[in-house]
Amino acid sequence: MNKENISKETKVIDGVTLNLSKPDTTQPTWIGQDEILKQIHACWMVVSEKDYPLSPRITGMPGTGKTTLAMVAAQQRKQPLYIFQCTSDTRPEDLLVTPVLSEKGSISYHASPLVCAMITGGICILDEGNRMNEKSWASLAPLLDHRRYVESIIAGIQIHAHKDFRACVTMNNDESTFEIPDYILSRLQPTLNMCMPGYEDELEILRYHLPFSEEDLLKMTVDFLQKSHQLDLEFSPRDGIHILQYALKRLSQEKDHPLSKDEVWKESVSKVLGEDAMDLDSLAAKNRRSLQDKHLPMGLGDFFFNDDNPLHPDSDT
Ligand SMILES: Nc1ncnc2c1ncn2[C@@H]1O[C@H](COP(=O)(O)OP(=O)(O)OP(=O)(O)O)[C@@H](O)[C@H]1O
Ligand SMILES: [Mg+2]
Repeated sequence: MNKENISKETKVIDGVTLNLSKPDTTQPTWIGQDEILKQIHACWMVVSEKDYPLSPRITGMPGTGKTTLAMVAAQQRKQPLYIFQCTSDTRPEDLLVTPVLSEKGSISYHASPLVCAMITGGICILDEGNRMNEKSWASLAPLLDHRRYVESIIAGIQIHAHKDFRACVTMNNDESTFEIPDYILSRLQPTLNMCMPGYEDELEILRYHLPFSEEDLLKMTVDFLQKSHQLDLEFSPRDGIHILQYALKRLSQEKDHPLSKDEVWKESVSKVLGEDAMDLDSLAAKNRRSLQDKHLPMGLGDFFFNDDNPLHPDSDT
């Protein structure tokens, strides 16, 4: 699909030449959890001429496979894939068109990965979208509804999305982020929530990424991860991959004085996840306690006064 467009490196819109970048060519594989893959494909389907595609939000803990899922879905649709990494200082022009001063003093305009996907009929993953501020999100409002265009103030042009353009946003459930305004969230629908994989899927994921790993190390890691999922701890398949990678490197280092696999695996867990991860039950209990402290019951005074208000009935001042 759209192969002829990918090779073009520029596109002229209303007299302005936009330089396009190349799509991502990574070939990821998706293991298990077929349902969520079907759900993202459903969002991107168009079932009638009057229909238009949805731009879902993929949510979940870090390292659970959100970006990989979207990449695999894009690959299965055989469309060029562009990934835009959102950060807290992403400006609207970074998201759309950036002016670049050339050596000769002229200005050239560079299309962002999002705009490249819009022009070439590709798919754009707005990765870690919850890190982006409201001003940048606001510039995408018309793109994410039936209007399907953006306005680049810098280039002075309106850019309309190709009919094959699709988008999705990945979001972490952590706190290091901005509140996305409701009018944007209402355009990022539906929400596809990524869960931790079950035992067999997790074993397959680790085996796929580390086919040279010994079976007992694989199983130790999956047992550990599965227990952590049951205890609601945030250790992910990515953590499992890192634990195994480090353990296997350590083992191969000491060929003459073989180290105990058990000891190396424990060292790896503590180096990747910290000492606390050695005792999952205590870590889970500690997390529960700090969660309870955060949600202490509110008194009536809390409804009427801030904590630092001297009129608060519990105030010391
Ligand atoms: N179902 C799966 N099939 C194949 N690989 C997986 C699967 N789930 C997770 N992984 C692997 O786990 C690692 C983490 O995945 P990914 O980067 O997609 O997670 P993420 O949810 O986007 O994390 P973050 O929130 O930190 O961006 C990758 O190496 C990925 O290949
Ligand atoms: Mg990701």
